[in-house]
Amino acid sequence: MTSWIPLATVAECPPGASLERVVEGRIIALFHAAGQIHALDGVCPHQGGPLGKGLLTGCVVTCPWHGWQFDVRSGQNPLSENVRQPVFSVKIEGEEILVQLNDEDAAEP
Ligand code: FES
Repeated sequence: MTSWIPLATVAECPPGASLERVVEGRIIALFHAAGQIHALDGVCPHQGGPLGKGLLTGCVVTCPWHGWQFDVRSGQNPLSENVRQPVFSVKIEGEEILVQLNDEDAAEP
């Protein structure tokens, strides 16, 4: 079962922006890059840094804690093909940015 969850408005995530939202027990990072909104799991796989507060350069976000990088379109780390951050589908309805979460994505309380 999947749900489309409104996370932010388009105005809150202008081109070049990074944004962090907490929804249903998960931290989601939103990025406006290459003319689109992208959503990644917001918890860096290195040591849990906040990717939604990272620096976005082109389509690459740099984790603010130790500098790991991810392509926000694919979640791929450019240095290791084994490191890929989960990505979520995004759609825009009116002014709302919605992200598709699977029910099993919800974190345990
Ligand atoms: S927690 Fe993200 S690079 Fe270390």
